[in-house]
Amino acid sequence: MDKQVDTKKYYIKTFGCQMNVYDSNRIANILNTLGYEEAPTPKAADLIIFNTCHIREKAAEKVFSDLGRIYLIKQERALEGKDTIIGVAGCVVQAEDEQIAKRAPFVDFATGPLTYHRLPEILAKVYRKRGQSIIDTEFPAESKFDFLPENKSTGGCSFLAIQEGCNNFCTYCVVPYTRGIETSRPVEQVLNEAKRLVSTGSVEINLLGQNVNSYHGEDASGKERNLAYLLRKLAELDGLKRIRYTTSYPADMTDDLIACHHNLDKLMPYLHLPVQSGSDKILKAMNRRHTRDDYLRVIEKLYLANPNLRMSSDFIVGFPGETDEDFKQTLDIVNQVKYIQAFSFKYSKRAGTPAAIMPNQVEEKVKKERLDILQDLLFSYQEKFNLSSVGKTMPVLFEHKGRHSGQLIGRTPYMQNVHVEIAKEFLNKIVDIKITSATVNSLTGELAETNPKAS
Ligand code: SAH
Ligand code: SF4
Ligand code: F3S
Repeated sequence: MDKQVDTKKYYIKTFGCQMNVYDSNRIANILNTLGYEEAPTPKAADLIIFNTCHIREKAAEKVFSDLGRIYLIKQERALEGKDTIIGVAGCVVQAEDEQIAKRAPFVDFATGPLTYHRLPEILAKVYRKRGQSIIDTEFPAESKFDFLPENKSTGGCSFLAIQEGCNNFCTYCVVPYTRGIETSRPVEQVLNEAKRLVSTGSVEINLLGQNVNSYHGEDASGKERNLAYLLRKLAELDGLKRIRYTTSYPADMTDDLIACHHNLDKLMPYLHLPVQSGSDKILKAMNRRHTRDDYLRVIEKLYLANPNLRMSSDFIVGFPGETDEDFKQTLDIVNQVKYIQAFSFKYSKRAGTPAAIMPNQVEEKVKKERLDILQDLLFSYQEKFNLSSVGKTMPVLFEHKGRHSGQLIGRTPYMQNVHVEIAKEFLNKIVDIKITSATVNSLTGELAETNPKAS
């Protein structure tokens, strides 16, 4: 039989954070070993998987509305005599398995973020029991990482999950319920995966975890090691040029981790360290294990370790009980730290979390006003930093083709996007680029005249 006709195709749509992007790649690894190939569109796919996010109401609702559209595709394909399997993975599954069965009964299977290594069995069951949906949302005893096929680089820059889950229980957050309690992968397993990523083309690795700096994986002798140890080991890998880690919790920025920002040249001078609010009263109500001063002290130490380091953060406005005065303190911390990038959100009530039933919920109108004010301020610092890059020469790792032909898009050490007219051979390489112009969102540049170096 013609092989073309035989090969099954998959399409994965990813919602949410970088951990979900990583998980989607690992799901693709599994499907590849089962003989599936990637489809360019959902319409061309025999298997469509949504890897979902539950962090805010909007994120979760989007999953359900997009699922409705996918059902239409399934029906269109059925008219052409083609079968389509629809699966849901990720954090919505863990939190709302019953809702999925109710609101999207056409879903064939659902698997949580910790159980997708069982996909081969789940798919086999789906084919055996067509028409019946299969849901796997257990918090399994085994680690999925022991069962996944080998990971491969996804380009010059790859994600590598080293830690998963969270024990912090911030009162607004669903993550401890969707990703479970904190677990760390063993040191050797991480190093082996990093070596494979480098040998298949990665020059940059971004270590991921919901609370990445609380990493405490075992080494070969069974001794627990921290993130600083892991970073030092990774920095020894030939061929690996850039290391990042995200997302960190302020109270877990230990002195030896901070020292890595002084000692390790491969560690990029950019750190995402969410503060959420500048008000001690709100931080306490959020159950954050740090005060505003604790946070500022960590940043002071980081700047001492590496004066070139720049920060980014996450903010929530309109947490229950937030007054104008509390909000002013958030603006004040932005003015102190001068973040070069940031994500900011209106507080979103999540069922089952303590903040959802706190008194003094903030009106939607006020949340919106505060978000606008905060974002204007954040953008002003982001723009200022981008403009200050003009005229400088920076090493840029090219990650994608641009919209125009002959254009590539890459990233500076500070995660700024740079658009350059440059030969496509430079894709996945680090190249010195002279920055010629800047906007609030991105930079433009050209190959630096002096000694352009590709690595
Ligand atoms: N583990 C990371 C972030 C996880 S979620 C950390 O602790 O920093 C990413 C961001 O989403 C959070 O930093 C927070 O700013 C935001 N977020 C989480 N729950 C939210 C909610 N209920 N409403 C609004 N924003 C929320
Ligand atoms: Fe959520 Fe807080 Fe854990 Fe981050 S630290 S994942 S915000 S509970
Ligand atoms: Fe969303 Fe789950 Fe990530 S809730 S932000 S996909 S950990």
